[in-house]
Amino acid sequence: NGRVVGGPSILAADFAHLADEVRRAQAGGAEVVHFDAMDNHFVPNLTVGPVVARSLVAAIDIPVDAHLMVENPDNLIPMFVEAGVASISVQPEAVTHLHRTLKMIKGGGVEAGVALNPTTPPEAIEWAVPYLDYVLVMSVDPGFGGQKFIEEMVEKVRRVRELYGLPVQVDGGITAETAPLMVEAGAQVLIAGSAVYKTGDPAGEMRRILEAGRA
Ligand code: DX5
Ligand code: ZN
Repeated sequence: NGRVVGGPSILAADFAHLADEVRRAQAGGAEVVHFDAMDNHFVPNLTVGPVVARSLVAAIDIPVDAHLMVENPDNLIPMFVEAGVASISVQPEAVTHLHRTLKMIKGGGVEAGVALNPTTPPEAIEWAVPYLDYVLVMSVDPGFGGQKFIEEMVEKVRRVRELYGLPVQVDGGITAETAPLMVEAGAQVLIAGSAVYKTGDPAGEMRRILEAGRA
């Protein structure tokens, strides 16, 4: 399965102090930061885009992974590439021509991923696999932090690994309790929002999640 890595989702962080919040998670072993972009169309919430991504990339020294929960991400992809993010995942339900979109991401020299909604089957991306660097298995509905972990997604991680062997990132309800289940099923990248930031000890919680996932 390879080495398990993890990082915080900015969604639960204090947006007035983003870089400091990332550094707090880094002190607990975070090696990537997950940047949730939302547009109030694909999901009923609104966050930040390439302008903020650019500032964050410049302020920190770990890779920024952009998770685009937006309709028609094609317009934004060149801007996220330009901002210096290391990877971009898109939601296939929000994309009309997934092949073109993934080629655009990879053409920018950035790693490409797809994010599977809880009811989107792994088989939906079969023909996209040659253009993918990773699969993001959503273990909650996209849109908000702090939702309940959907247990069946453990089986989905296992299925994605069996079918494609690609690295799997998991996002949604990841805690020190759920992380080991996802890792056992084959997940390599653990993303956690509220578990890290809603506790008062981001470094300690990040470390707890990583230790649980690596045990
Ligand atoms: C949900 C986002 C997640 C979110 C996870 O739409 O994609 O990245 O921040 O939050 P938690 O870890 O609180 O479930
Ligand atoms: Zn996310």
